[in-house]
Amino acid sequence: MTHAAFDAIILAAGKGTRFKGSTPKVLAPILGLSALARVLQTLHQAGCQRAVTLTGHQAEVVEQEVQTLQPLWATMPVATVRQIPQRGTGDAVRIARDATNQLFAQTVLILAGDVPLLRPETLTTLLATHHAQQNAVTLLAAEIANPTGYGRVQLEAENGQIVAIIEEADATPEQKALRAVNTGVYAFDWAKISPLLDKLSSATAQGEFYLTDIIAIARQHQLKAGCAWLADPAEMTGINTRAQLAEVIEALSLRRCNELMAEGVTILSPANTLIAPEVVIGADTVVAPGCMLTGKVQIGERCQIGPHSTLTGPVKVGDNVIIQHSTVIDAEIRDGAYIGPYAHLRGGCTVGQQSRVGNFVEFKAVNFGDHAAAAHLAYLGDAEVGNKVNMGAGSITANYDPVRDQKHKTHIMSGAKVGCNSVLVAPVQVGTNACVAAGSVITKPVAANDLAIARGRQSSLPQWVSQNESPEALFRADVES
Ligand code: UD1
Ligand code: CA
Repeated sequence: MTHAAFDAIILAAGKGTRFKGSTPKVLAPILGLSALARVLQTLHQAGCQRAVTLTGHQAEVVEQEVQTLQPLWATMPVATVRQIPQRGTGDAVRIARDATNQLFAQTVLILAGDVPLLRPETLTTLLATHHAQQNAVTLLAAEIANPTGYGRVQLEAENGQIVAIIEEADATPEQKALRAVNTGVYAFDWAKISPLLDKLSSATAQGEFYLTDIIAIARQHQLKAGCAWLADPAEMTGINTRAQLAEVIEALSLRRCNELMAEGVTILSPANTLIAPEVVIGADTVVAPGCMLTGKVQIGERCQIGPHSTLTGPVKVGDNVIIQHSTVIDAEIRDGAYIGPYAHLRGGCTVGQQSRVGNFVEFKAVNFGDHAAAAHLAYLGDAEVGNKVNMGAGSITANYDPVRDQKHKTHIMSGAKVGCNSVLVAPVQVGTNACVAAGSVITKPVAANDLAIARGRQSSLPQWVSQNESPEALFRADVES
């Protein structure tokens, strides 16, 4: 980024009354990442150096999230500071100032933790305006059709300079009619503005210290206040309610769908597809309705994904892969593989080229070779499976020892054929090109090229039926007795 270094303060201490439920709204998952994570990611992408997150309501869980996320932005340390009780946005920033002392860069961005649609480019524009106009404080403002609920931005009639922000609860009917609103994002010249935080008063309609009052106070102190205008007002949508959460998720997905379509991906019904910003898809791949792709998902070219498939990253999919009606979590699927319908891959799987993982098949931590197949009704867990292996319908690796509560591995060497309905009791190995007869329970290693049969031998009682009562007669006797 070309602009000067900046730090950020993220306000995430509030209760989120309208969001209801038991988890703080800033932790609501937005296509695989929490709202707070998306805001931190935006800051990171915009070049933020350091961030301080205010926590208060359910502080521990929010702090835990910040800690968990930290490795994602190694170059941007994120600290947390508690604000208890929460006495308003102005109080929050003052507490951040006092807790961190001299830590801040010359420019500090202030924003809320619940605005996941904000783009890094928007922050860059705000900072550019802030520096170009040499403001002490610059507000990111927006013109919207329905300003209800937002602080209104009062501008000077002659030159359009910002005069003040008036909170809705404190606004006159005339001020309420203003359609310029406060997005809640600000750039501060920290040395000039931070001392003025002590001038904020709680003599407001809500009895809170409003950060918004800082504009009027700066002007009283002959400091320059300015505005940058938000090009796409949708970006300021906060997730105050579950309805807004849905709106934000849909908008973020649609944004990514549009980018992908512009890159040559076919998305049959963007409105019925959820794709996270992190997802990468190659040209000529078709995504059918009902897909949910989140996390670090990378899909190659000419694939068919869906309908109705969930891919939760990390997932890497090669070219010409088909995934139908399936759930794939943490897996790599190589070129030409065909997954589903109704397959479930999880826990770190690889599926080799041109392989088949078919109807009602579950894999957990399986390395499955090239040209291998488990086409119907199989379960494989903790298994190493070679090339050209065929797992018959209903075949199972019994990987779990419930007595010792341990998992064991199964090795199935290349070219092996495991018959229908057989159970490989791990730890066990089936050698190269070996065969396991249908219905076998294999507890000992099978050597290469052998046929292992481990089941009751079939025998017949000649003419048993004709010498006994017919099954029909037996049944009747049973019912009538
Ligand atoms: C705030 C602005 C309003 C603006 C709107 C944009 C104020 C007084 N008003 O209103 O002008 O249009 O944002 O969305 O700033 N928070 C704390 N500590 C507190 C209070 C709030 O950390 O003591 C956090 C909240 O968790 C939230 C953010 O600050 O993330 C904004 O607070 P909220 O109460 O939602 O502000 P609004 O009433 O929406
Ligand atoms: Ca409020």
